[in-house]
Amino acid sequence: MTELYYFDNSATTLKKPAAVAEAVYHAIADGQLGNPARGSHSASLNALRLTEALRRKTAVLFGGPDAANVAFTANATASLNLVLKGLLTPADHIITTVTEHNAVLRPLYQLEEQGASISFVGVDECGTLIYPDFSRLLRPDTRAVVVNHASNVTGNAADLEWIGSFCREHGLIFIVDASQSAGVLDIDMVKQHIDVLCFTGHKSLYGPQGTGGICLGDRPLAFVPVVTGGSGFHSFDKQYPKQMPTLFEAGTQNVHGLAGLSAGLDYIEQKGLAAISLQLKELTLRFHDQIKDIPGIILYGSFASDVARAPVVSLNLEGWDSGDLSDALFMDYGIAVRPGAHCAPLIHQAFGTEKTGMVRFSFSSFNTLEEIDYAAKSLRQLAEEG
Ligand code: ALA
Repeated sequence: MTELYYFDNSATTLKKPAAVAEAVYHAIADGQLGNPARGSHSASLNALRLTEALRRKTAVLFGGPDAANVAFTANATASLNLVLKGLLTPADHIITTVTEHNAVLRPLYQLEEQGASISFVGVDECGTLIYPDFSRLLRPDTRAVVVNHASNVTGNAADLEWIGSFCREHGLIFIVDASQSAGVLDIDMVKQHIDVLCFTGHKSLYGPQGTGGICLGDRPLAFVPVVTGGSGFHSFDKQYPKQMPTLFEAGTQNVHGLAGLSAGLDYIEQKGLAAISLQLKELTLRFHDQIKDIPGIILYGSFASDVARAPVVSLNLEGWDSGDLSDALFMDYGIAVRPGAHCAPLIHQAFGTEKTGMVRFSFSSFNTLEEIDYAAKSLRQLAEEG
């Protein structure tokens, strides 16, 4: 089989640390992990110890104020649905941005159908958020601000500290989608005044698919539980418990997956987030530098070296549809990328790429300089040969 050059890490990281696979294997093969918080026998307690330790590691990674404020879910989409539908009401006005993924947009549109109003902060021609829009869009009934930390289309990151301070100044709840930034960029929930952080485990945290979570900040928030069921305690109550982390964890947890996620967080801790961040930026800028003068290339977003970013380069080649270009990259060169709209319709509208889509290359810390050079050379060859 032809070698696969994988550059679709924003969709999911394909290569994981060996310790992640081993942790998932042992979680099942050793037969020691039961259902956490569902009993006092050793298997249940082993599972509880594993999930509690992972809450602590997660809180440390995100600068969360309390490990008990970390809940695990199936992915960022599940987290965002639980948070947005559990917190916001039809009476609320919500400020969000055109960089959002449908995991934020579609739950918000459902709230809009029920009466809520939504306003969108725009981007400039480089894909950078227009920060004065936050004040311009503010209304007396504004309750929350929902922001994508790093765009899954441009990779450019929002200034969370600025937005967090704006939210505190105006008494707004600050909700962050960290799908593309967790494990890539520094997140400090206290310093950045983040009230709710939603993350996925299977991208740059290098965990298995089916893992993710919610980390709450230090301000009390009144959530309505969206998914209810067994909680393992208060079984005779008709109401589902509202305390963290049970609030978001009805039913049995994906403990086997969480064992893998725990190993993913260990990998990040051992390598160091700052080192990973630097490595990913180098890969991204190296790729950008090698392709930026290919005839007919169109690049999206800002590649200035001082701009915080996720490792994403989205592009088009004049005369090519993004689907055709990504097929040619795969068929002729074994290169895996993601074409189309990336479930982020508004940023594509902002760039005028609704019809063509874009071809997105996205990197992980398992990509090498040689792979980056191969991708750039292949793209140049395709462009020159047409
Ligand atoms: N949201 C993921 C992506 O951007 C799946 O590809």
